[in-house]
Amino acid sequence: MDLETLSARLSYLQQSGLDAIRTAADTGALEAVQVAYLGRRGELKTLLSGIGTLPTEDRPRVGAIGNRVREVLEAALDARRVELEAAALGARLAREGVDVTLPGRPVRRGSLHPLIETNREIARVFGQFGFVVYEGPEVETDVRNFQALNIPPDHPARDLWDTLYTDVPGYLMRTHTSPGQIHVMQQAVPPIRALLPGRCFRHEAVDASHGFEFFQVEGLMVDEGTTLADLRGLLDAFAQAMFGRGRPTRFRPGYYPFTEPSVAFDVQCVVCAGAGCASCKRTGWMTILGAGMVHPVVLCNGGLDPDRHQGFAFGMGTDRIAILRYGIDDIRMFLENDLRFLEQF
Ligand code: PHE
Repeated sequence: MDLETLSARLSYLQQSGLDAIRTAADTGALEAVQVAYLGRRGELKTLLSGIGTLPTEDRPRVGAIGNRVREVLEAALDARRVELEAAALGARLAREGVDVTLPGRPVRRGSLHPLIETNREIARVFGQFGFVVYEGPEVETDVRNFQALNIPPDHPARDLWDTLYTDVPGYLMRTHTSPGQIHVMQQAVPPIRALLPGRCFRHEAVDASHGFEFFQVEGLMVDEGTTLADLRGLLDAFAQAMFGRGRPTRFRPGYYPFTEPSVAFDVQCVVCAGAGCASCKRTGWMTILGAGMVHPVVLCNGGLDPDRHQGFAFGMGTDRIAILRYGIDDIRMFLENDLRFLEQF
């Protein structure tokens, strides 16, 4: 090959390289062009390998031309790369663009169920007195739901609870949270301050104030020297926190087989403030819970020594408290899952 031919081929190579660079559609194609022209086995290298066949005095000239071709192509490659990258970025920005002037999509926020809200408030108030929340099972043994609570199988007091029995002998749907007292006494060591919220079941005719499932919160305190006065003070503080400072409360005698003495705890009616209205059946008072000193037999069944430990227990209807707090007149609404009702809380 002579100088002229080689120079002509080099200039042709430069031109076709520039064309290829100009038409490369993306950085990948550009990469391929670079390899094809300037790579270790690229066209420029191949062409320049013919340099050895030239006369010695021509070789530097061809070398200089070759270097210039390389420089021109490299500069063109760099320029095109910048161009392609800018175009790619522009396309991506256009594709992923966000119109910040559009109105936002509102995130719908849920709210707590009124019974959960009430439960938390009850736990918060008793928590300040050191009560800790436990939970017992909804399916209970006849033993813990009744017998250990001093209610033998043929005891007339069983009529107080219309029980839903399971088809497994000895097992039933708990009719109250009181079997939790036995669970806690058998597991914990006094001093005990336990709160046991949970779902209960009774075979009731359903109406505005009765459901076949409902919620209770059980309280249990066991220590040395615990008295009825402690119970009175605690419940009074609870009523003030729940229904407002200065709200009058009272104890009335009551009866439960597992407490002795037993009481009903009344709060002055929040609707009529004692004047007497339909909500409180004209009495001016609302009974919110049953309570009493834990019966010695129950302490024994819980594995405790009644000569050393005494305690009190109380059980309140969560639905009842929620009704008073929110002014609702039908407890069936709590479990109907009607959003128009639930969204109000
Ligand atoms: N378990 C009783 C009920 O369901 C309430 C209660 C609890 C009474 C604890 C006294 C002590 O009616």
